[in-house]
Amino acid sequence: MHNILLVKSSLNGEQGNSTVLANEFLEVVKTKSSVKVTERDLGDNKLGHLASAEMSSWMIPENERTQEQKELASISDQLIVQLQASDTLVVAMPMYNFGVPSTFKAWVDRIARAGITFKYTDQGPVGLLEGKKVIVIAARGGLYAGTPKDSQTQYLKDLFAFIGITDVEFIYAEGLNMPVKEDNLVKAREVMISMAEKISA
Ligand SMILES: Cc1cc2nc3c(=O)[nH]c(=O)nc-3n(C[C@H](O)[C@H](O)[C@H](O)COP(=O)(O)O)c2cc1C
Repeated sequence: MHNILLVKSSLNGEQGNSTVLANEFLEVVKTKSSVKVTERDLGDNKLGHLASAEMSSWMIPENERTQEQKELASISDQLIVQLQASDTLVVAMPMYNFGVPSTFKAWVDRIARAGITFKYTDQGPVGLLEGKKVIVIAARGGLYAGTPKDSQTQYLKDLFAFIGITDVEFIYAEGLNMPVKEDNLVKAREVMISMAEKISA
């Protein structure tokens, strides 16, 4: 069974363009292969910013943590276990103010953990997650793909490479606040279908 983790972060919940497209993508994938999909919805804003007490709890040996530190450390632990259990990560990615949603960044701050998802060596950092694939479905009001203003693509490639995932592909749905919206959604859906075929092959 192929395990897919869907990470969503739209402020618009199930109506968000990134969510709608990611759900459609997974429906196509399900028609082609046997997959188990687990979801992590960051749009509910339950993960706050990473703060000092939570980060410090990671550094304390498990058997020396107070009850509060155990609870704080378990937030990141659970997110990492969910990520480790996935074969493919599907990221439904809105662009907000030229970047990734702050809720997604709050997730990143908890899944990039020294000694668990990466380690430092004499040659520099080495990612510890192996054999995974990431598919990013990027929804944007404007047009940025392939230009220096696309602040998300390189960031996401660098982030995932840092934790060991170098197989990262993008499906862009751009110009969604522009008259080209419908044409571009058609194009995004075409790419989604070929991507679904590719990952199910
Ligand atoms: C707070 C906010 C900030 C936005 N900033 C940008 C932006 O910087 N660039 C852009 O192209 N679109 C921007 N948009 C438009 C969104 O990228 C677009 O609505 C996209 O569909 C968002 O994905 P979602 O529908 O899944 O939430 C912004 C939308 C919101 C709500």
